[in-house]
Amino acid sequence: MLRYLSAGESHGKAIVAILEGMPAGINLEPGRINQELKRRQQGFGRGRRMQIEKDRCQIISGLKNGVSLGSPITILIQNKDFSIEKLKKVISPRPGHADLAGFLKYGFSDIRGVLERASARSTVATVGVGAICKIFLNQFGMAISSKVLSIGGNNSKQGMREKISEAIKMKDTVGGIFEIVVKGAPVGLGSYAHPDRRLDGRLAGGIMSIPGIKGVEVGLGFGYAEKFGSEVHDAIYYNKSKGYFHKTNNAGGIEGGISNGEDIVLYACMKPISTLVNPLESVNIITKKSSKAAVERSDICVVEAAGVVAESACAFVLADAFLEKFGGDNLKDIKLSFKNYTKRIR
Ligand SMILES: Cc1cc2nc3c(=O)[nH]c(=O)nc-3n(C[C@H](O)[C@H](O)[C@H](O)COP(=O)(O)O)c2cc1C
Repeated sequence: MLRYLSAGESHGKAIVAILEGMPAGINLEPGRINQELKRRQQGFGRGRRMQIEKDRCQIISGLKNGVSLGSPITILIQNKDFSIEKLKKVISPRPGHADLAGFLKYGFSDIRGVLERASARSTVATVGVGAICKIFLNQFGMAISSKVLSIGGNNSKQGMREKISEAIKMKDTVGGIFEIVVKGAPVGLGSYAHPDRRLDGRLAGGIMSIPGIKGVEVGLGFGYAEKFGSEVHDAIYYNKSKGYFHKTNNAGGIEGGISNGEDIVLYACMKPISTLVNPLESVNIITKKSSKAAVERSDICVVEAAGVVAESACAFVLADAFLEKFGGDNLKDIKLSFKNYTKRIR
């Protein structure tokens, strides 16, 4: 129903995304998209690049007077640091990054050809697209948020900050875990009918596709493995005002690959950034002799920003699933279909 394509290198002219399938009639305030882009740039432990870039989008197609036309929407975010042609060669791959595998796969003579696109600068596009999807989902009472739960094994606010400060001091990096919560998702997004329609698989795939994410859990997740069924499954209740409901939410709002009306709750783990100021052992790709890995200007900890990117990836998946369920080429038709469905399932 919904698809997007992004393009752009980390130090190229711009990052661009084309979102196709958004219905007509949605008021798309660039200010709201810029707010999301700004959230992606924040968090304690970010590198100098984030001080240079002040990401702001231009919407160059798909709108008339700020309202969507149902045609492809193009978002363009210019890079302030447009220096791709002048950057130094990278010849010692960084362990943990795409450098070595990418260099061998594409046959470059310089690893820069890999890292310009493997860099998470491309997540600007995910966030731009996600912001539009969020505006759409908001029309139906859905809201997505994220929260950092732990950094380097510490879960207190103070402990997390200290861990990042320690990483900065030690010239190291650190990862962590964040949570994503979707409030207001109706029953019925996704399906058990075929593997590629399952909402849990689609959300997990969206989050796992973010650079640096190494694990996703839905609701109780790996915790399911430690308990009996009677302890974990969410009993079902009904009353006239609420309709069907659960008192617990171990399922994380998804059963049988379908949203069940409860909050959708997901967890993800972000690994420590692989560019280290104190680099690990590597190999010079020209001489094949051992050498320290390349050092690039880099972030120290991006768990908070990764949460914002993950919100956006989820917004895209949910908007797609929502359009599958409720169809329609314009917002009014979709609202009518949504209203009829809500009435029926009551
Ligand atoms: C918002 C965000 C910012 C990131 N910033 C950096 C960075 O500054 N330096 C770095 O080495 N990796 C950074 N990463 C992670 C790398 O992009 C990622 O580890 C790399 O592309 C290899 O992919 P993989 O970790 O999924 O294997 C960032 C990831 C995200 C989500």
